[in-house]
Amino acid sequence: MNLRDLKQQAQQDLASVHNSQELENWRIKYLGRKSSLSLFFDNLKDLPLEEKKEKGKEANEIRQFLKTIYTQKKQELEQSQAQGQYFDVTRPGLKIEKGHLHPLTLVLREIVHSFEKLGFEIVLGPEIETEYYNFDALRIPKNHPARDLWDTFWLTSGLLLRTHTSPVQIHYMEKHEPPFRIIVPGKCFRFEATDNHHDIQFHQVEGLMVSEKITLANFKFIVQEVLDDLFKGQVDLSFRPSYFPFVTSGLEVFIRPKNKSHSQWLEVMGAGMVHPDLFKTVGYPPNLWQGFAFGLGVERITMIKYGIDDIRLFFNSDLRFLEQF
Ligand code: DAH
Repeated sequence: MNLRDLKQQAQQDLASVHNSQELENWRIKYLGRKSSLSLFFDNLKDLPLEEKKEKGKEANEIRQFLKTIYTQKKQELEQSQAQGQYFDVTRPGLKIEKGHLHPLTLVLREIVHSFEKLGFEIVLGPEIETEYYNFDALRIPKNHPARDLWDTFWLTSGLLLRTHTSPVQIHYMEKHEPPFRIIVPGKCFRFEATDNHHDIQFHQVEGLMVSEKITLANFKFIVQEVLDDLFKGQVDLSFRPSYFPFVTSGLEVFIRPKNKSHSQWLEVMGAGMVHPDLFKTVGYPPNLWQGFAFGLGVERITMIKYGIDDIRLFFNSDLRFLEQF
């Protein structure tokens, strides 16, 4: 091959080199030991002296030139690779960070689903309440010592952040006639010191079932069904008397894992038969309706389900905790 053609061909080829493998092939072809240029040098010795000098000089210049453009190309490739312009189709892709549901959302959904299976309707209510709905209509008047059970975040002009989901009982009954069965999932707020079982913000699921002949036996059945569903039949229940102003025969429900009779009972809900005063307050005729109500602590259920020992973990946004669910 004519030396000038060789130079041109090499330049052309180099322009279409896009990675280090192609560059290496190029180097072998044009500068390698079996390249036409090397062969050319091998054959030089057979030429007459004058011609040897002349052609040798030319070939040397070309070899020098090829080496220079080779080095340039090599640097170019390395640089564009470092800047990420080089597209390596064999490189593994970046892992896309995928979010997931918060543990409380997971459990809240399960709870809601369990009640839906039993025909309960889902109702929502406001997080900002008046004193009337949060307290008075629920038989917790001003200056009544029972108010101490609900430490309150007061807002301006007499409004407050609801301390429980029970006010939604009143909202709902004002607008609906029995029979009905509803649950009210939602956030609640309490102005109190936090510890591993108390936080200033938490979730409840309120329940209310009213009809002509509803008794605590109906309540027991429903609660047993739902908790069996949530804990796959692996908990025992205990019902203990308690006091809430808006129910008669107030009680609390405790649960404990089956086959672990030595472990502690944990309170998961308050409940009772709806106080007749509430029916009167919303304008139902006297002695016609009966019902039960309950308030279930969502954080409590979640803590028991997953063995979490501090309620404050739910809201401090620590990914090491949240990533486990
Ligand atoms: N609202 C109560 C609380 O936050 C829980 C509760 C108790 C709700 C008894 C009820 C009930 O509906 O009947 O402590």
